[in-house]
Amino acid sequence: MNPSLLQVRDLKVHFPIHAGIIRKVVNHVHAVEGVNLDLTQGEVLGVVGETGSGKSTLGRAVLRLVQPTGGEVLFQGNNILSLDPVALKQFRKHAQIIFQDPFASLNPRKMILDSLGEGLLYHDVVKTRAAQKERVAEVLAMVGMPADVMWRYPHQFSGGQQQRICIGRAISLNPRLIVCDEAVSALDVSVQAQILNLLQELKETLSLSYLFISHDLSLIKYLCDRVLVLYLGKVMETASVEELFRNPRHPYTQALLSAIPKNHPMEQKKRIFLKGEIPSAINPPSGCPFRTRCPYAQPICAAIPPKRMVVDSTTGRKDHEYHCILE
Ligand SMILES: Nc1ncnc2c1ncn2[C@@H]1O[C@H](COP(=O)(O)OP(=O)(O)O)[C@@H](O)[C@H]1O
Ligand SMILES: [Mg+2]
Repeated sequence: MNPSLLQVRDLKVHFPIHAGIIRKVVNHVHAVEGVNLDLTQGEVLGVVGETGSGKSTLGRAVLRLVQPTGGEVLFQGNNILSLDPVALKQFRKHAQIIFQDPFASLNPRKMILDSLGEGLLYHDVVKTRAAQKERVAEVLAMVGMPADVMWRYPHQFSGGQQQRICIGRAISLNPRLIVCDEAVSALDVSVQAQILNLLQELKETLSLSYLFISHDLSLIKYLCDRVLVLYLGKVMETASVEELFRNPRHPYTQALLSAIPKNHPMEQKKRIFLKGEIPSAINPPSGCPFRTRCPYAQPICAAIPPKRMVVDSTTGRKDHEYHCILE
């Protein structure tokens, strides 16, 4: 098995809510609530869930772009939550992020050469302007763009081209891990396919690992090896992609799968349609957070989260088992 790249243990991110003249903390948003995950080198782990389930916060917390409230994030064995500034700078080189809106992630006043090349100088990957240009041209070629793109500005490109440039910026420092936060969600379907292909190619050639965040399970199916289903900051289910689509166990996963329009209704044995909105993360439901919307909820769901850890004897992976398994 490949060596472990990222291990997240009992990660919690709570955002304080302030009120009144003295901005007293009156409550907390429980955005991420005790998440565990493992990502091995060269693996793509999908994170799926509705808007507000804590996906982006999880992605940012593992890169220390938001400060976690508790837990551990081990990157190549080192806890990134206790890194000093020098080690943190080194970590930033190895772990990058791509956002949903490429135009918002590029400085509109800067030429692509500067947007893409400033990290190279900052991290001492290159020392001179000539070397910077050379590396930027090389990176642009890797993402399927001609070298003269470097002299232009972000508004001169389409969304798909802008996202290629952002991917180029993310890979320019030779990272090991890239968090893709809804990286293709804002693009046209045909462009989505091209960018997914590009991510797949780069993963192979540069042996990258992705934490691929998306609300769309059909994108997850295309690119990911394993999936983690998140709801109100908690992991509902983790499984290999193949297993998740063949035998979704948690009712929330079944509901997400039922929402994929291209699946013919008759193909799905267990169909659940989600009603209403995700509850507030300020006072999340006790036990299984999905119980307030789950058609199979039982009294026990309010008391005990419906899972216990089981270990797969062949792979050694830890996984969840449920008392609400539907046969
Ligand atoms: N900076 C913040 N301050 C307060 N609450 C936040 C902040 N960022 C996110 N949240 C809240 O945390 C929860 C999870 O948000 P987010 O991680 O953006 O979910 P997702 O990416 O799955 O849509 C939401 O309830 C959101 O309102
Ligand atoms: Mg998000």
